[in-house]
Amino acid sequence: MYLILSLLFAVGLIADGNFNSSHICKSCHPLIYKEYFDSMHRRSSIFNDPVHKAVWDLHPLKKRGRYSCAKCHTPSDTKLMEALKSGKTALPKENDIQLQEPIGCTYCHRIENIKKGSKSNINIISDKERYYFAAKNGKNEESVIKYHKSSDMMGFGKKGIGSPFHTIDYSNPNFSNGKICIGCHEFKKNSKGLDVCAMDFERSEKSDTNCITCHMPQVNGPISTLTSEKSHAFHGFAGLHNSPKMLAKYIKLKIVPADETIAVSIKNEADHRLFAHPLRVAQLRVTVIRDGKSFTLPAVSFYRILGKESRPAMPWEATEVLKEYSLEAHDTKRLEFNFKTESGDLIEATLGYYIVNPKAAKKLGLQDSKESSFKTLVTQKMQIK
Ligand code: HEC
Ligand code: HEC
Ligand code: HEC
Ligand code: HEC
Ligand code: HEC
Repeated sequence: MYLILSLLFAVGLIADGNFNSSHICKSCHPLIYKEYFDSMHRRSSIFNDPVHKAVWDLHPLKKRGRYSCAKCHTPSDTKLMEALKSGKTALPKENDIQLQEPIGCTYCHRIENIKKGSKSNINIISDKERYYFAAKNGKNEESVIKYHKSSDMMGFGKKGIGSPFHTIDYSNPNFSNGKICIGCHEFKKNSKGLDVCAMDFERSEKSDTNCITCHMPQVNGPISTLTSEKSHAFHGFAGLHNSPKMLAKYIKLKIVPADETIAVSIKNEADHRLFAHPLRVAQLRVTVIRDGKSFTLPAVSFYRILGKESRPAMPWEATEVLKEYSLEAHDTKRLEFNFKTESGDLIEATLGYYIVNPKAAKKLGLQDSKESSFKTLVTQKMQIK
């Protein structure tokens, strides 16, 4: 018996342990749960994300029965993860985890550390159940809080400290500095060794900005039903699908008109390349309105096209970056448009995006989906005096 158990551990079959369901968390953390439910971390499976499904349906690993995407898209599905590790057929089944919490609350809150990997990074999951890491944010003097009752000096008003359901560990710096995100987000190489979603992270000079402050800003409402804080960290994870407006302030557009030209500068304050996923394409569109007539200037696109033998290719077969025009981390780009401006002209500049590049959308059968329409991220207007 001992031998069998240690063998199981050795091949990592049960090393990840079981993850408690998000439904348990919902009762005490209803606001966070509700935000999470709308987030892409709840919608990351093929059953909840039509874009992920469309790409998976064309992927050669599907025929081979190897849903290797699970590592990042559905790590809470431990049965599927075990099948992958043991080399069995591993295809996602429409179960409760895939639908309700493919990247669950407890998966994230048990990430103890991140290990550098060759094709992608590896999340080290703590084996303690009901023991969650969180950011300290100057909140507590103790670093590990087990639920207990405290009473004031007179012995009155016993109140609960911590959570009656779980222990909280505030000592993990990855939850304050944003490192917990990079296990899945830093890079992903295909079998040809090409990094298909290079984010090219570059730390900000401002030490207090990171993945968490930008994508999980503090929003109104207490952390739990048992506590009374004014705010909590947004669990909708602002991104191009969900709550993009929350991110607009990190991209600054500036219009500088001259006699013969209009210059528009785009300043990227994010710690990474913008619109990094190879399916995305962004556009800067400039219009001038004069006497009720509008003039549309040629749009400028931002993209990263992957290819093979000098032709565009799907991410899994690509061997090179064919062409790219990107907004890198902390980069400012100045674009000039030829246009003779006149006094009274109203200039409008818009930076927007397609989640799925319209050309790719056709190949994926997504041309009529909401992901293939143009969405605005930032707009700036200026009237010439
Ligand atoms: C019985 C109620 C209850 C349940 C169930 C519960 N929690 Fe909590 N949780 C709390 C309380 C109370 C706190 C302490 C909040 C505070 O001190 O501000 C807390 C704190 C936390 C924190 C740290 C918050 C901080 O202060 O930074 C995390 C992370 C957390 N819970 C995650 C979870 C997850 C994940 C689940 C579901 C598996 C869960 N909780 C289920 C009551 C609960
Ligand atoms: C190393 C982790 C990792 C692995 C493995 C992985 N992905 Fe992803 N995937 C991500 C992350 C992170 C994002 C979000 C990126 C973003 O929004 O810029 C993403 C986004 C996507 C998207 C865009 C979805 C949308 O709605 O816009 C598609 C499509 C996708 N992945 C397909 C796949 C497929 C198919 C596989 C398996 C063959 C796979 N991924 C494996 C991390 C991974
Ligand atoms: C277990 C892997 C994993 C971890 C850990 C993770 N993510 Fe993600 N994240 C994903 C995947 C996969 C997607 C893409 C889902 C899809 O589009 O189908 C995603 C999508 C996103 C998006 C895009 C949302 C949108 O609306 O377009 C943002 C933003 C994001 N993650 C931020 C974060 C941040 C911040 C952290 C750290 C607190 C984090 N992620 C941790 C896997 C992960
Ligand atoms: C993608 C990873 C990820 C997922 C999924 C996730 N969390 Fe968190 N959560 C974090 C990080 C990172 C923080 C720390 C943010 C901070 O405190 O600034 C956090 C903070 C918290 C806090 C403390 C809030 C605060 O303002 O201090 C609670 C409570 C919590 N999470 C509960 C949950 C519950 C419940 C779920 C599922 C419904 C969940 N988390 C899903 C990454 C995640
Ligand atoms: C200063 C703010 C800022 C910081 C810091 C930051 N981001 Fe972003 N992030 C943005 C903005 C703005 C966008 C929207 C434009 C875009 O999609 O590229 C974005 C987009 C994203 C997306 C969606 C990309 C896509 O194409 O769908 C992901 C995923 C993401 N960030 C992850 C991260 C992670 C992980 C970190 C930490 C390592 C991080 N971000 C740090 C501002 C920030």
